[in-house]
Amino acid sequence: MQKRLSVGLTLGVSLLWLLGVAASGLVAQHEMNEVFDSALQETAQRILPLAVTDILNRENGTGNQTAPALKDHDEYLTYLVRDEKGNLLLQSHDADPGVFGKLPEEGFSNTPTHRIYGASAVSDTIYIEVAEPLAHRRESALEAGVALLMPLIVLIPITLMGVWWIVRLSLREVVEFRESIESRGVGDLSSVEGRRLPTEFEPIAVAVNRLLERLQRALETERSFTANSAHELRTPLATALAKAQRLKTQVQSDQLKSNVAEIEEALRSLSQLSGKLLELAKAEGGGATSQTRHNLVPILTMIVGDFESQTPGRISLTLPERDVNSFLDPDAFAILVRNLIENALRHGSPKEPVEVSMTEDGTLRVSNGGDIVPPEQLVLLRNRFARSKTDAAGSGLGLAIADAIAKGAGMTLHLRSPATGRQDGFEAELTNSKEAK
Ligand SMILES: Nc1ncnc2c1ncn2[C@@H]1O[C@H](COP(=O)(O)OP(=O)(O)OP(=O)(O)O)[C@@H](O)[C@H]1O
Ligand SMILES: [Mg+2]
Repeated sequence: MQKRLSVGLTLGVSLLWLLGVAASGLVAQHEMNEVFDSALQETAQRILPLAVTDILNRENGTGNQTAPALKDHDEYLTYLVRDEKGNLLLQSHDADPGVFGKLPEEGFSNTPTHRIYGASAVSDTIYIEVAEPLAHRRESALEAGVALLMPLIVLIPITLMGVWWIVRLSLREVVEFRESIESRGVGDLSSVEGRRLPTEFEPIAVAVNRLLERLQRALETERSFTANSAHELRTPLATALAKAQRLKTQVQSDQLKSNVAEIEEALRSLSQLSGKLLELAKAEGGGATSQTRHNLVPILTMIVGDFESQTPGRISLTLPERDVNSFLDPDAFAILVRNLIENALRHGSPKEPVEVSMTEDGTLRVSNGGDIVPPEQLVLLRNRFARSKTDAAGSGLGLAIADAIAKGAGMTLHLRSPATGRQDGFEAELTNSKEAK
């Protein structure tokens, strides 16, 4: 816009100036011609009486004579004095008879090279003709034109710079507004400052802010609905599960027992699903960072200890020697780690250990053996309810939760298959792009 306005306005101004120059040039030429003509006429009429006296005073009235030049000089105007038959009586010293017609004429006339004025005296027997070279007039016109065009050379850069500067100045707030929208993070839906915008752009700021507000409200509604429903489902599900378990001990028939076991299983996965939905709602609702730093090492040790007690000998843990203090919220970190280790235990090969490691810079890596997940499926795994080919039960929310927490904390979750340094397996790595060690 800035470029278009500057170039357009400069071109416009230059074009108008050129038109102005052309018009005034034409007028000036016309006026100059009039002045030159009148000077020509005046000269002829002034010289004629002198020439006539001169000629009549000559004893021998015929033959030509060159008017003596007082000093050697070039002549702009040259003249011939002739009788009505064209016989030369007198000429100025630079005059070239070839320029004039065969017979003298009165009034103005043009030859290809000269403008001529003729006048007569003594009952049309003596004629004077004064010639002025047209080149002289052309030169004057050209000089006037050039003088009018000169300012344009200065005018073009000045206009260009002036317009550029003014447009830049008036668009500065708009550019700031654009930058403030660009620079905000993915999850930042707070309203944009747009009070200093030019009036023409204010409605845009208002519309953008209204849109952001509606978006924020819609997202909040969705999250709180998910969280509330998951929360509300927990108690009835737990009650139903407990009742099904009690029923299983009460019934005698094997057939009935396995039916009740199926119901128990369905209720358990339902309760797991509602638990994951609650985690997802919390993870997406923000709150993945805390105000103070926490050491992540003991949290990781505790979670791995929990899993160890359930599945002894499956996890090999590598911890850093120093503390890893991070602004990552301890609860959010625990949820993330649980999901990653749970995945490795559930979907990885049972014959190989799950490797969990943390380095001093806060990078967490969970890897396991097992089949390779094809790349086209790997990229989809962080979507909600996305699962690749697996026999294990699950809802497909674990990686979506882990990804939401990582994003909320400004960290990155990398998924790789095969795992680093292996031919097979799967690896999830959490790296911190912004936090201090
Ligand atoms: N460590 C892993 N090894 C092999 N495949 C994995 C691993 N982790 C995840 N996957 C694949 O990614 C899919 C998605 O994982 P995600 O944790 O999102 O869902 P889930 O484990 O199936 O269910 P949920 O975690 O909600 O109970 C899994 O179904 C599995 O196919
Ligand atoms: Mg999972």
